[in-house]
Amino acid sequence: MGCGPGMPGGALWPLLLCVSWLHWLHAGADMYSSMASIQQAVGMEGALLQHLGQYLQQETQRLSDLRRFYEKVQASHQAGGPPVQDPILAYTLLKRLQSEWMNVVHSSEANENIQALKEGYEKVKQDLPAPEDVEGAAKALMRLQDVYSLNVNGLARGMFQRSSSSDTKLLYNPPHLSIMSADDCFHIGKVAYDMEDYYHSIPWLEEAVSRFRGSYGNWRTEDEGSLEEALDYLAFSYYKAGNISHALDLSRECLLYDPDNGRLARNIAKYEQILYESPTADADAEEMKLQRPNVTHLKTRDLYEGLCQTLGSQPTSYEDPHMSCMYDTNSHPYLLLQPMKKEIVSLRPQVVLYHDFVSDLEAEKIKELASPWLHRSVVASGEKQAEAEYRISKSAWLKDTIHPFVQNLDTRISAVTGLNAHPPYAEYLQVVNYGIGGHYEPHFDHATSRKSPLYRTNTGNRLATFMIYLSHVDLGGSTAFVFANFSSPVVKNAAVFWWNLHRNGLGDEDTLHAGCPVIIGSKWVANKWIHEFGQEFHRPCGRSPED
Ligand SMILES: *[C@@H]1O[C@H](CO)[C@@H](O)[C@H](O)[C@H]1NC(C)=O
Ligand SMILES: *[C@@H]1O[C@H](CO)[C@@H](O)[C@H](O)[C@H]1NC(C)=O
Ligand SMILES: *[C@@H]1O[C@H](CO)[C@@H](O)[C@H](O)[C@H]1NC(C)=O
Repeated sequence: MGCGPGMPGGALWPLLLCVSWLHWLHAGADMYSSMASIQQAVGMEGALLQHLGQYLQQETQRLSDLRRFYEKVQASHQAGGPPVQDPILAYTLLKRLQSEWMNVVHSSEANENIQALKEGYEKVKQDLPAPEDVEGAAKALMRLQDVYSLNVNGLARGMFQRSSSSDTKLLYNPPHLSIMSADDCFHIGKVAYDMEDYYHSIPWLEEAVSRFRGSYGNWRTEDEGSLEEALDYLAFSYYKAGNISHALDLSRECLLYDPDNGRLARNIAKYEQILYESPTADADAEEMKLQRPNVTHLKTRDLYEGLCQTLGSQPTSYEDPHMSCMYDTNSHPYLLLQPMKKEIVSLRPQVVLYHDFVSDLEAEKIKELASPWLHRSVVASGEKQAEAEYRISKSAWLKDTIHPFVQNLDTRISAVTGLNAHPPYAEYLQVVNYGIGGHYEPHFDHATSRKSPLYRTNTGNRLATFMIYLSHVDLGGSTAFVFANFSSPVVKNAAVFWWNLHRNGLGDEDTLHAGCPVIIGSKWVANKWIHEFGQEFHRPCGRSPED
């Protein structure tokens, strides 16, 4: 930091490096990236809760026995102590002093009780979430805050409200308010701070400071942060954001609580000096409005977020006479018996929604089959595949041989689309479960480079996408077609179908799409990607790029 003010938290970069390295060692990581894993965490806490309940019961018994002893001895000390003339009382006094007090003070029961509690914890310890999980969850809340313009103060009170300059709109009224503690807000602020993201650290630390101020002096065993620390981090965030006078005020407040902190005193002196040398330092900073950190897909960010905020719009061209709902048999014998409810959602690109494509029973079975195999989803990264912040979910591949339901789906998809949906002409069924704030930022399903790992099956590019919604989502999680300017809400048991390639084999730019972050719910989808080869008779090639 040179001669600048000292930051709380010590060295920044070495710490970050060390954390990302640990990430690869921890087997149970990525819990936050799927709601199915979060569900397992509920069971883990249930076990811990049971141990703590037992502990409290045993300690309560132990303390009530101690109180009995205390009251017994105290009674004999009333009115000036035990009358020493009484040989019985004299005897019990001596006995107490020689052994009873020793037994009370050196009782091993407290130790045994705490030991049992610790052993219960050790049993589940290796499965508990890692720091990266909590960090991932904190980032998820910040993502929801950004994408849906949610207000931090509302979030901290368990409310999902959108703030605009003029008013606030409640998006969702949860049945149970989950109010965040000062320490919860402090942790989120600190995650942002560690990324040098003061745009987010300031509002969350503000929230933490105001809550810590409100409960100052009340000790909470579970907390990691404190008012002093939150003030320290907040002051430094304001300093980094260029608001020196506020950094100074907060540091002065902090020094009141922590008068021996030399670093704080030096920071205060430094801030005073900056303001003395350049009284307009703050005004200059006002120009430099805090900016949101950049995302991977910056160019399409505003379009994408606008579409997510509609929470699933109908496309504007919906009124078009070509678009309608119909019962479709696709002239296929399979469908003559049970026609599909087909809704054309968009003409360019052509996006079709098949209602009730699967039954509740099939949806449940597919989720159940996939659950044990869920792993963090990857994205194509050059010639390889990698995990990425812009795709937060877990997925599993289901072979058609795993269960007749999966094979039936292939047959049904083939009937509906007229394409060959059986491997190797299509990929295995990919089942995806999104995590906290789980999303998939704008992307193409088809490969945009010849080097893509998608070509490994030697069946060409991904011609078409067939995506089945296996669950209901209470809020968020729409599928947004960024360039086509519409988003389609999650409709349980329905399937969305679109062509990724033009007839001439080139990718259709209009299919750029995204999975908006899930706000409330566990979003499950199953994807079937149909490849070019094997479809020659079903979709003849064309030369026109328009087709
Ligand atoms: C500094 O922050 C405080 C508290 O948020 C605010 O009232 C003040 O206007 C800010 N000053 C500048 C110059 O941005
Ligand atoms: C984000 O990227 C834009 C354009 O590349 C740049 O002007 C802006 O300063 C960046 N913002 C941040 C916070 O890095
Ligand atoms: C997208 O559609 C909305 C209405 O649904 C419209 O207000 C907006 O102007 C459109 N945006 C673009 C870029 O076409």
